[in-house]
Amino acid sequence: MEQSKPRGGPKTPRRRRVADRLELQEQVTELAAQQAAVSEVLRSIANSPHELEPIFDTITANATRLCRAEVGALILFEEHGYRIVARTGVADTYYVKGHLYPVSEGAPSARMVKTRSPVHIADLTADQAYLQRVPGLVALVEQIGVRSYLLVPMLKDDELVGGITIVRAHVQPFTDKQIELVTAFAAQATIALEITRRERQLRQAQTELAHATRVVAMGHLTSSLAHELKQPLCAVAANAAASSRWLTREPAQIENAKRSIECIIKDVERANSVIDRVHSLVKKAAPRKDTININDAILEVMTVVRGEVVKNRIRVQTQLSDSLPHVRGDLVQLQQVMLNLIINAIQAMSGPADSPRELRISTESTKEEVRVAVRDTGPGLSADNLQLPFEPFYTTKPSGMGMGLSICRVIVEEHGGRLWASENEPRGALFQFTLPPTDGADRDQIDASLDASRY
Ligand SMILES: Nc1ncnc2c1ncn2[C@@H]1O[C@H](COP(=O)(O)OP(=O)(O)O)[C@@H](O)[C@H]1O
Ligand SMILES: [Mg+2]
Repeated sequence: MEQSKPRGGPKTPRRRRVADRLELQEQVTELAAQQAAVSEVLRSIANSPHELEPIFDTITANATRLCRAEVGALILFEEHGYRIVARTGVADTYYVKGHLYPVSEGAPSARMVKTRSPVHIADLTADQAYLQRVPGLVALVEQIGVRSYLLVPMLKDDELVGGITIVRAHVQPFTDKQIELVTAFAAQATIALEITRRERQLRQAQTELAHATRVVAMGHLTSSLAHELKQPLCAVAANAAASSRWLTREPAQIENAKRSIECIIKDVERANSVIDRVHSLVKKAAPRKDTININDAILEVMTVVRGEVVKNRIRVQTQLSDSLPHVRGDLVQLQQVMLNLIINAIQAMSGPADSPRELRISTESTKEEVRVAVRDTGPGLSADNLQLPFEPFYTTKPSGMGMGLSICRVIVEEHGGRLWASENEPRGALFQFTLPPTDGADRDQIDASLDASRY
């Protein structure tokens, strides 16, 4: 901060008061600017916790502006040097973003690596390294026109992870206060880096977990799936034998043979679609943004659970709205939600009770939302704690994982919707979820949330 001293003559008390007030005023203004900058950084962290670039841009711009410097950059260290990840006030050709720079002997970066403290050079042209023509420094002075230079380390525990550099085109040393300020910004950048790294690790772990629960869910279906595949295969064998018989007749019964072959094709398609579904639910894939017809997605899931439904003698009723708008999201993730709700419903009705077993799946829509409801006539949920089933690891099943519903809730919420449970009338459980229709949805927001998607 530059001090404004009244010039000329000895200070009278009145003059001093004015000077003090001016100084105070300046301090307050500066403090307010710093506070605004800090909240701007916090806002950018909150707005894009998964993306570091805008955060680093904001930090670099604020540090440069508040220190009244012309050029600023944020660097991150790697094994073989450092990369510039944000910069402000300098043309593309210098401080090239993304370029890996070596830490050359004698350069300020090398000094910071050694001391782990700020490197402040009041006038680069008087610096030893410049006089010894260290290339990095020569470029700074002669190409960018830098005179006063500051590089502040970003330290995580004791590890040097990066730094913020700000420079001036004229000789004007940075004040202690300014160095302090840049140090505070460097700490913020380190925190943002750490938050993002942990977020990434968490997401990775959760992706694995979601995949594992999908595989487990499919595991529950193995025997009924085998049964489900056996049926079309038996039909294929029978129709193949029949068409062979039609063709060996004298004269060959071409029309009948053709009909048998058409049946074969249909059955093969049916078996194939089951296999495809199983495959897409079991395989690991990056989240996608599809335009989805929820009704079709439900019908596909039904092909996978049909065997289980038959085995448990459950009556299925589907009431799918024929004017359902599309939704936007990842098909496999949304099918995982439906699969889990349906398997839970089937499992709830697989006990010894002999009352009618009914699974009802319905869809409907309003202007704001597409709603899917899965009802069963099992024992239902305890009315006073409808949140409990969504708790991670809550399960009442001997071989349950208790992760299904908590993962479903995250998936639905990442798609901009809600998932909740209630009691079904007259008995059983009712699980419902909503999703925003593609037209009404804030597409960018959903896309952003899917980009950051955990599953
Ligand atoms: N349709 C339902 N009827 C009754 N209870 C249910 C139903 N769906 C879920 N629950 C309860 O919620 C618990 C958690 O379900 P979930 O998260 O899918 O894990 P899991 O199926 O592995 O137990 C279940 O163990 C069960 O107690
Ligand atoms: Mg479950």
